[in-house]
Amino acid sequence: MASDRLLGRKASSDRLLSRKAIVTGAGSGIGAAVAARLRADGAQVFTADVKGDVDFVADLGADDANAALVEQAVKAMGGLDTVVPCAGISAFHPLEGHDDAYFRRVLDVNLFAVFRLVRDAVPHLKASGNGRVVTIGSTTSSYGDEGLCAYAASKHAVLGFTKSVAAELGPFGVTANCVQPGAIDTPMTAPAFTQMPEYRTFWENKAPLRRLGQPQDIADVVAFLCSDDARFMSGHGLFVDGGAMARH
Ligand SMILES: NC(=O)c1ccc[n+]([C@@H]2O[C@H](COP(=O)([O-])OP(=O)(O)OC[C@H]3O[C@@H](n4cnc5c(N)ncnc54)[C@H](O)[C@@H]3O)[C@@H](O)[C@H]2O)c1
Repeated sequence: MASDRLLGRKASSDRLLSRKAIVTGAGSGIGAAVAARLRADGAQVFTADVKGDVDFVADLGADDANAALVEQAVKAMGGLDTVVPCAGISAFHPLEGHDDAYFRRVLDVNLFAVFRLVRDAVPHLKASGNGRVVTIGSTTSSYGDEGLCAYAASKHAVLGFTKSVAAELGPFGVTANCVQPGAIDTPMTAPAFTQMPEYRTFWENKAPLRRLGQPQDIADVVAFLCSDDARFMSGHGLFVDGGAMARH
């Protein structure tokens, strides 16, 4: 189909055969597309989310949820060499009057859950000899935006965290990269795009490719980063944004 070609969609491959991956946020949007893409490329995938049709249902912002997730995933797959934390939350809150509780919640889900998941996976990533960590940042890992102080703080931190993982685990053959999506059409962004059509148009026009991204656009890049083709790439933040950040 023409639309499949435009999205670069491939039916399947065996390039991730033998990979054993955890994907969080797999109940929706980008995480669901990542899980499907990794499976289509031959990986075993253990999925987690707070809701939806996944292998492990839990609030990953809670203290001990990620340790339990790693334990169950390793048991189910017989190992673990790939971690893709996609779970995340976002909402517009002006800085003036911003309450502590929501700021903390954003950090718990978008940052602490990523830190704990990768930390608890370290022994398995090291043992595999060619582990992969692919975090999901945002264009707001590099820039700020109105109403997004908590979200942007969490996503800046995820990028810095990922670079440090690359530095620390590189000697064990592990790569770590942070995919930074632009505006992607998912249930997270749907309310804003519906309530503010001008916001949707702004992002469509800002991208030289003149459209919003689809979850598949992100999933295909994640699958590449998990593959042997990306074996010498580590410590990067990669905008996957239709070129939006390349222009003013
Ligand atoms: N959509 C975009 O434009 C965009 C842009 C940049 C980055 N991102 C990032 O991509 C990732 C996926 O977002 P999406 O757009 O697919 O949104 P989405 O809302 O469709 O998916 C997010 C998933 O995370 C899950 N989740 C939320 N809180 C959780 C928790 N406490 N424990 C477990 N699971 C939880 C949700 O249930 C949901 O299934 C997020 O990290 C988001 O910040 C999205």
